[in-house]
Amino acid sequence: MNTKVALVTGAAAGIGRAVALRFARDGMAVGVLDINLDGAQAVVSEIQAKGGTAVALAASIGDRAQVVAAVSKLRETLGPIAVLVNNAGITGYARFQDLTDEAWDRVMAINLKGSFIVTQVVLPDMEAARWGRIVNISSSSAQTGAETMAHYSASKGGIIALTKTLARELGPLGITVNNIPPGMIMNTIMSEATVDRFPIPKEELVKTIPVRRTGEPDDIAGACAWLVAEESSYVTGQTIGINGGRIVS
Ligand SMILES: NC(=O)c1ccc[n+]([C@@H]2O[C@H](COP(=O)([O-])OP(=O)(O)OC[C@H]3O[C@@H](n4cnc5c(N)ncnc54)[C@H](O)[C@@H]3O)[C@@H](O)[C@H]2O)c1
Repeated sequence: MNTKVALVTGAAAGIGRAVALRFARDGMAVGVLDINLDGAQAVVSEIQAKGGTAVALAASIGDRAQVVAAVSKLRETLGPIAVLVNNAGITGYARFQDLTDEAWDRVMAINLKGSFIVTQVVLPDMEAARWGRIVNISSSSAQTGAETMAHYSASKGGIIALTKTLARELGPLGITVNNIPPGMIMNTIMSEATVDRFPIPKEELVKTIPVRRTGEPDDIAGACAWLVAEESSYVTGQTIGINGGRIVS
């Protein structure tokens, strides 16, 4: 079996790191893309220490020239890209009345436009192979709304809509596109920075989650592994909530 090449954005930390490690464990060669090159390099070393194949790629997903350079490096080093996880994202908090144009534009430029840019740059490989798997990481905040996160939740809602449209456009080409809205995934930089914003203590919050625990990055990695597998070829355009049952649909 040929080794598949996967690109995971925001893979220096948190959920992206867990996805990159899981894909490498499953036998994929992984492009570990992040704005934080040292962190990406550390994940690559971790993968290589376990016998896997990976390359670190420095880019901001919001910068097309940087993405083109990083994707070219991945193609030259490991080959054409078959699997993409658009995971990199940033957050921010402001009462809607206080939200500035700059904060709005920054979150949109990374979360929504960044996913557009990376997908468009990677796509020719999947089109040529007539096979591809794209997983977009959205957010449960797009499903429920989230106070003080209008820009973030709107950007993630955009990712859900983008997923649905791409599933329609790319399905005939053998490419599936799904999104995962994570909910309460701890042990990431983003979630640890958010804990003190919880409206109630974490122990109380856990009681509102049907499975009575918060999530871990590996919970998302497991769902990604399934969505990018051959056996998931009949799954596209879907929103697969990974949230312990806190949001049911
Ligand atoms: N943790 C959660 O509970 C949760 C919930 C909902 C959605 N999400 C989403 O999951 C994704 C991962 O979140 P996380 O909690 O692991 O966050 P994290 O902050 O731990 O990791 C994000 C990674 O993305 C990188 N990054 C940021 N901006 C970038 C850019 N412009 N270009 C390239 N890389 C960039 C960071 O350097 C970091 O390594 C994000 O899209 C986030 O919105 C997380």
